[in-house]
Amino acid sequence: MLTFEDEPTQPNALLPKNNMNNDKQESDSNAVEALESKGSQQDNNDANRRISISDKRIINCSADVNQLVPFKYKWAWDKYLSACANHWMPQEINMSRDIELWKDPNGLTDDERRLIKRNLGFFVTADSLAANNIVLGTYRHITNPECRQYLLRQAFEEAIHTHAYQYIVESLGLDEGEIFNAYHEVDSIREKDEFLIPFIDVLTNPEFKTGTLESDQQLLRSLIVFACIMEGLFFYVGFTQILALGRQNKMTGSAEQYQYILRDESMHCNFGIDVINQIKMENPQLWTKAFREEISGLMEKAVALEYRYAEDTMPRGVLGMNAPMFKEYLRYIANRRCQQIGLDVLFDDANNPFPWMSEMIDLKKEKNFFETRVTEYQTGGALNWD
Ligand SMILES: [Fe+2]
Ligand SMILES: [Fe+2]
Repeated sequence: MLTFEDEPTQPNALLPKNNMNNDKQESDSNAVEALESKGSQQDNNDANRRISISDKRIINCSADVNQLVPFKYKWAWDKYLSACANHWMPQEINMSRDIELWKDPNGLTDDERRLIKRNLGFFVTADSLAANNIVLGTYRHITNPECRQYLLRQAFEEAIHTHAYQYIVESLGLDEGEIFNAYHEVDSIREKDEFLIPFIDVLTNPEFKTGTLESDQQLLRSLIVFACIMEGLFFYVGFTQILALGRQNKMTGSAEQYQYILRDESMHCNFGIDVINQIKMENPQLWTKAFREEISGLMEKAVALEYRYAEDTMPRGVLGMNAPMFKEYLRYIANRRCQQIGLDVLFDDANNPFPWMSEMIDLKKEKNFFETRVTEYQTGGALNWD
């Protein structure tokens, strides 16, 4: 734990340690003088000018990304504040009833057990992919500080989600090797990840830079795949399954974890859609007919992959659900995502067979959560500084 003795006592304690040789020091001090001289010449130029709202752009912005204010995209800052207000941790949720049910040989059917294992098999690695996509990819290419602030929060939430899935696997005593390798070993899971990975690789490639029509379209395409397909479609069979168990009073601890994850993910998806629409507005040349058709094609392919996952996780009807109901649901969600980014709907007459999922997304049960959270949870305000 930090104590006051750990505080810096030297005024320059935050400066880098001086371990350079004299030549290097001299060349650095020359460089500093050159920079200072350049700065004084440019006082009224871009480098030292105070930032105004009109300087800010989501991509390819040359204004200083270290200056959070003045805010241009209030929606991004508001989502950052809402995300922080929704903070939760997996170990706050009581898993004892889930453990008891899982260990009871008559507690769950074979189909329910298969569903749970395949469900976790996708999610245990999916949120690591999501976190890497943000930290190693998206963050570098989004040149706006209020959006970056949200992305930092989102990255931590992805870590919490991976923690939650690991916590469920550990609590139930599942075979970790089987669950964490499902993305290699189970076709329906591997195919979803193989679909996503090329779009993540584009952004995490250290050579990738925005600034041309082609590269800006590559970024926009990857952002759409991440927000509208990965977070906005590929999570929904899995979320619905575990929440359906919870509605039948089974695996209620896991269902509560998934409820908080669903709340976070719906905000990630909405933030991504706001970013996509803002980029479209600021760069209308990217939104060509060919590009729109390509995105619609990706959306259709994603619906097929997610439906295959539904069939694989539910080879027979289970919990009052079956795979064909998900065909309708996935078409309904895909239509919604298309509308949210300004594309025509893909499927006629697709209705929502799970209206209760909409209520789950809104999650009006914060009060219950705070009544049930464990009391020894330590917040920053309760730290002992002695
Ligand atoms: Fe997540
Ligand atoms: Fe997410």
